[in-house]
Amino acid sequence: MGHPLGHSLSPIMHNAAFRSLGMDWIYVPFPVKPENLKAAVEGLRALGVEGVNVTIPHKEAVLEYIDDIHGTAALIGAVNTLKFDDGTVRGYNTDASGCLRALEEVTSVEGSSVLILGAGGAARACAFQLAEKGASDITILNRTPEKARLLAEDMADKLGFEASYGGYELIQGSVKSADILIDTTPVGMHPHTDDRPLVGAELMHEGLVVHDLVYNPQRTVLLREAERASAIPVSGIRMLLYQGVEAFRIWTGRDPPLDVMEDALKRVLNRD
Ligand code: ATR
Repeated sequence: MGHPLGHSLSPIMHNAAFRSLGMDWIYVPFPVKPENLKAAVEGLRALGVEGVNVTIPHKEAVLEYIDDIHGTAALIGAVNTLKFDDGTVRGYNTDASGCLRALEEVTSVEGSSVLILGAGGAARACAFQLAEKGASDITILNRTPEKARLLAEDMADKLGFEASYGGYELIQGSVKSADILIDTTPVGMHPHTDDRPLVGAELMHEGLVVHDLVYNPQRTVLLREAERASAIPVSGIRMLLYQGVEAFRIWTGRDPPLDVMEDALKRVLNRD
């Protein structure tokens, strides 16, 4: 459920998974206007739907209609996955767990120094999840520094985690001491693939993990810079995949067919 529902890759990913497991399930887009959100959640519950993904602009507003919210999602204050369980509506944030899993494919978050660019919904999900997972320090830099400050203060209030924050002028100094860089901004997203990246190769060091949440194109301008610097690029497709994999497990209780879901995503992205 979202509004407006643009071109989403989730139906392709989940329907490929259902087909491969021979499950008689289907994932369909529901464009739901904000004023209809309550009715939509009640209707889905009444209809016996197993679950939904929730996206912009409902990720926060839907909390009001949830009976049970998963711990990290409650701290973040936003969910992207609902599970209808015998009339109980349970909310999860698999963006957060997806971000963590994408990073843990190549590194260990515990004890790491993390730099996050952007302070919107995705930054918020990643920041809370990585703080909970034991990142040693987190710096949040944003175009609008005030929003970075609000996020840092919220983390201090809810987790007792003191994150640093500021504007993009602090990028140069902050990248040097980072183990993990996460760009949550839309810079470099199709069709603006030739945007100037927020961080160039000259600021990166060997072994720095560079996670760009943009997945179209798969090899963004930031990830190309990471390759030039012998840093470790992590495509946004990894987080997209893992947020879906986790949602699939929540809805079905089954082991998601990871390869099938990944192939489905890559097929569409390579075609576009
Ligand atoms: P999401 O849900 O994907 O996190 P969002 O909440 O709209 O999306 O957040 C986008 C983030 O990218 C914001 O931090 C935004 O900065 P502002 O808070 O100043 O708006 C940042 N952003 C958007 N466009 C950007 C650009 N062209 N350059 C740098 N940062 C940008």
